[in-house]
Amino acid sequence: MGKNFEISEDKKQELLQEIDEHLKNPGPLMPILHSAQRIFGCIPLEVQKIVSEATGVTIAEINGVVTFYSSFTMIPKGEHTIAACLGTPCYVRGAQVILDAVKKELGLEVGETTEDGYYTLEAIRCIGTCGMAPVMSFDEDVHGEMTITKAKKLIKEYRKK
Ligand code: FES
Repeated sequence: MGKNFEISEDKKQELLQEIDEHLKNPGPLMPILHSAQRIFGCIPLEVQKIVSEATGVTIAEINGVVTFYSSFTMIPKGEHTIAACLGTPCYVRGAQVILDAVKKELGLEVGETTEDGYYTLEAIRCIGTCGMAPVMSFDEDVHGEMTITKAKKLIKEYRKK
């Protein structure tokens, strides 16, 4: 997994405080992991260890949950997230073909981040703008009527930002 993940004392304290809060409620593990994901941007083993120590849940169990749900990641996300919508209206208009071209362009599978930490590629479900299908988002910006050419152009443009 490469280099160790750095955990600042501030963020650790923030997480521990949220864990204390969540432990007051039933079924605290999922909300705790959502807090961890938000605070650290990912939940690598170092963070899982903190959660394990504070909750008494084994690392094996925590790791199982983190790897099962796609909303959790073990490695930090890139600076920018490119997300292809694969909801039905986007799919029937060729979203998969565009996503495949983007995967090739970036050398990534869905869920992976470029080595320079710049782009993370994701596949998402309908984001409610089916009228402009196929849709792709670059961070918060939604781009509709996507084509392979347009996607490649956007990838280059965002590189310059
Ligand atoms: S299916 Fe893609 S935006 Fe609705």
